[in-house]
Amino acid sequence: MKISFKPAERHSCGLAIIPVFEDMTLNGISSDLKLGFKSLAQAADFKGKNGKTFRVYAVENSGAQQVVFIGAGKKDKFNAEMFAAKAMKQLLLERQTSWVFYLDGIGLDPDGAARAALGADLAAYRFDQYRTKLPESKKPVVSDITIVCDDAKMATISYENYHGAEAAGVKLARDLVNEPPNVIYPAAYAQRIKELESLGLDVKILGETEMTKLGMHTLLGVGKGSVRESQLVIMSWNGGDKGDSPVALVGKGVTFDTGGISLKPGAGMWDMKGDMGGSAAVVGTLMTLAARKAKANVIGVVGLVENMPDGDAQLPGDIITSYSGQTVEVQNTDAEGRLVLADALWYTKEEYKPKAMVNLATLTGAIIVALGHEHAGLFSNDDNIAAQLLSAGETSTDKVWRLPLGKAYDRLLDSPNADMKNIGGRSAGSITAAQFLQRFVGDTPWAHLDVAGTAMKNTRHDPRETTFGTGFGVRLLNRWIADNYEG
Ligand code: BES
Ligand code: MN
Ligand code: ZN
Repeated sequence: MKISFKPAERHSCGLAIIPVFEDMTLNGISSDLKLGFKSLAQAADFKGKNGKTFRVYAVENSGAQQVVFIGAGKKDKFNAEMFAAKAMKQLLLERQTSWVFYLDGIGLDPDGAARAALGADLAAYRFDQYRTKLPESKKPVVSDITIVCDDAKMATISYENYHGAEAAGVKLARDLVNEPPNVIYPAAYAQRIKELESLGLDVKILGETEMTKLGMHTLLGVGKGSVRESQLVIMSWNGGDKGDSPVALVGKGVTFDTGGISLKPGAGMWDMKGDMGGSAAVVGTLMTLAARKAKANVIGVVGLVENMPDGDAQLPGDIITSYSGQTVEVQNTDAEGRLVLADALWYTKEEYKPKAMVNLATLTGAIIVALGHEHAGLFSNDDNIAAQLLSAGETSTDKVWRLPLGKAYDRLLDSPNADMKNIGGRSAGSITAAQFLQRFVGDTPWAHLDVAGTAMKNTRHDPRETTFGTGFGVRLLNRWIADNYEG
């Protein structure tokens, strides 16, 4: 998709999109159309109600083959990103390649104009490359989006330096989640990440031999039943001051979670191709940071494994030694994400001594029971980081909700046979999972985001979310780093 920002002139296009506010006045260059507009709107019984549309064809002097007027509600509440996303959702299958959004003369700042482009781009995202029988009429043809705005120059800069890079990162994260498990398995996934080196990221891949040498047996244990080799991938973006300790992002990348010997039921198991959504957010964020040349040092670490039942798979009751030296009794092989993260977190802490460490994981079904698909669960040992993430959640629209940690929850993991077991009891499943992770971060200021309900969704209401993989986390982390760790 080609995206550009242009000054308030008429531009020739297939589809011109014009917001109409409740007072039924047209603004900016669109107001040139006002003569015809009043009577046309009346004839179409259009009163500017939010989301209502009417369309005219070949409007004289408009430069457009079609002009779509869209009710945009109250002017002071106008959200350009959502407006553009809704318009895109509604009009995506129009047979028009070039679209112009007329957003000039409505008091929209350059950031808002750039966000409109982001909203349109995210709403146009598709994952249909495997659908060989999809009729042409169901395939979008939009290829060019122009945002007409008051300060096209600044909007271009805002898009190139921030929102455009973010959109690319979100779409990469969505692709990674949507791709099937026979395409994205650990080694293939690691190679995809390796390709990001072209953006200036440094990518290091550890295989099973290296991880065995290091003693990463909680991560390796999860992959034992799989014929696919487990991988630990480390991405570095060094855009900050030399020697400045980095921020670290750590992701759960279970490319498929059958549950292992504690096998999951068959119905819906296919969703577990998305059990690498936390890692996808980390990869998408690192891509975004590199694409916009962020002035920060950031490390991304993802543990990539496939959780399978097999003659060689780990068993409930197995006691394994983590990279940290702590031992774990694996009571349930389906509580595998925390085993992967235990080694990835300890490795990140030891190797990079980050000033802050955030991990993301589709960790528990229980977080969906608690928060549904609206907020990710936030757990932290540091009130400052928690506050930063809550705030970044609001501005980025990747929302998070904090849940507690505490000694009494931690105790639920004690085992008579090892330093801990990998499951708590029936209650507080998301919290005991977070307590487990906390045992592997030491004193590092740390937060855990449980994205099981937000990284993948089978039903969606937000027009910016178009597929199972949502890309949740990229916008949040990008905002968090931009607000707190750059300059
Ligand atoms: N990947 C799942 C969590 C999950 C469930 C994500 C549904 C998205 C949708 C995780 O590995 C898991 O299986 N967790 C178990 C933990 C339990 C065994 C303590 C769960 O939530 O049931
Ligand atoms: Mn599991
Ligand atoms: Zn899992």
